Amino acid sequence: MKQIAIFASGSGSNFQALVDSVQNGSLQASVKLLVCDQPNAFVMERAKAAGIPIFAFRAKDYKGKEEFEKEIIVELQRREVDFIVLAGYMRLIGPTLLRQFPKRIINIHPSLLPAFPGKDAIGQALEGGVKYTGVTIHFVDEGMDTGPIIEQEVVRISSGETRGSLQDKIQHIEHELYPRTLNHLFLTNGYLMQ
Ligand code: GAR
Repeated sequence: MKQIAIFASGSGSNFQALVDSVQNGSLQASVKLLVCDQPNAFVMERAKAAGIPIFAFRAKDYKGKEEFEKEIIVELQRREVDFIVLAGYMRLIGPTLLRQFPKRIINIHPSLLPAFPGKDAIGQALEGGVKYTGVTIHFVDEGMDTGPIIEQEVVRISSGETRGSLQDKIQHIEHELYPRTLNHLFLTNGYLMQ
């Protein structure tokens, strides 16, 4: 059974979906740790409620990314974590973590990459006037939302779509797609990982 750490910065609805899926057996994994870079984020309440240990930090308390990533690695190794799952972690992963977890860091992004990488992908799609956007799950590399794609799902943008309604549609898909895709990845021991 794979041991995972989830990294998040915000409300943590994806974190919750993953934890729920582990609890109901549809995601065969064990959540060993939440790593959170925003000490007031609601995801911390979710982790506490689920009894999942938390490593919280503030980037500004460190000299640089390498310093806090080294501390994160100590926490991950102590808990024998196999995979890092990013769920709304709004920070670029640095070379220190990437070297330690090659092809073992996965991200979810609210667009059909390579369209609309980076911040506010939902706003970018609305602004761009596209008819379709979606969700992408991919391996993390050194770029911004550039790593090999594992799975995608399309979302249609209706006329009169608002930011809120589009976000709801995308998150609804994310909450089902992320656990299902991770479960498949873990069971097949990482198809696409060579
Ligand atoms: C999710 O929609 C996720 O796809 C997005 O942040 C949201 C977090 O929501 N991630 C990115 O934009 C990464 N570039 P949540 O905190 O409710 O899970």
